[in-house]
Amino acid sequence: MDVKASRLEGRVAVVTGGASGIGLAAVRRLAAEGARVVIGDLDPAAGKAAADEVGGLFVAVDVTDEAGVENLFRQAYDTFGSVDIAFNNAGISPPDDNSILDTGLEAWRKVQEVNLTSVYLCCKAVIPYMQRHGKGSIINTASFVAVMGAATSQISYSASKGGVLAMSRELGVEFARQGIRVNALCPGPVNTPLLTELFAKDPERAQRRLVHVPMGRFGEPEEIAAAVAFLASDDSSFITANTFLVDGGISGAYVTPL
Ligand SMILES: NC(=O)c1ccc[n+]([C@@H]2O[C@H](COP(=O)([O-])OP(=O)(O)OC[C@H]3O[C@@H](n4cnc5c(N)ncnc54)[C@H](O)[C@@H]3O)[C@@H](O)[C@H]2O)c1
Repeated sequence: MDVKASRLEGRVAVVTGGASGIGLAAVRRLAAEGARVVIGDLDPAAGKAAADEVGGLFVAVDVTDEAGVENLFRQAYDTFGSVDIAFNNAGISPPDDNSILDTGLEAWRKVQEVNLTSVYLCCKAVIPYMQRHGKGSIINTASFVAVMGAATSQISYSASKGGVLAMSRELGVEFARQGIRVNALCPGPVNTPLLTELFAKDPERAQRRLVHVPMGRFGEPEEIAAAVAFLASDDSSFITANTFLVDGGISGAYVTPL
């Protein structure tokens, strides 16, 4: 990847879920563009390895824990002097979250906590630091399922991502005049452990989804990371409260090419 190392020079970025998949690709891309990166993740081995790779900082955190999330952003601010970019991206897609008829309350709540409450906690923790400097870019990972329905339901996951989308839009509007931009990033299906695990046992399930993607393939984490870097940078200075779809055309499709 030939990336100019200047677009994010001097910026500090916090990435949750930065130990794997989309988060890891974003860590690499943000660092390549000059940002100092702080990784917040449950996984200490992979998180530390990612931080070492980019000369960044790893902070162990469960993003559903308020004190832990506050500690993550405090450590980032105290170590590097600002938090300019927050990529609130950690999320899960467990197999016991499926049709509403089969999904128990415990499974529902777990996904709401990790995918939606975590984003509330991260935004709440980081906005005061951004207010101090009168600027910042928050990117919350939602999903294309926030804007379209799946017959192969993951009911709590879809509802959580709809919540992330609505919350990001509202925060974008509330803080626009304080120089803080907030956007919901909506990836289509992307080749990451989260997705491959879901389809590993059953290629027919992957095929059933691919038929809806005009480009005929899943996205790559690096393609999502490129959008993260754009939304993090001043190149997106007039973009806020946005539903930023990076989905190979899936949300725009009626029929797809043969
Ligand atoms: N992969 C896709 O197709 C796809 C599509 C749309 C949206 N998304 C979203 O993108 C985000 C990243 O997904 P991915 O595919 O890269 O997943 P992944 O499983 O590869 O990585 C997720 C990371 O989050 C961390 N994590 C999980 N729970 C955590 C917690 N409670 N506290 C801290 N860290 C935690 C994991 O340790 C892991 O490093 C998620 O929000 C997911 O819902 C993914």
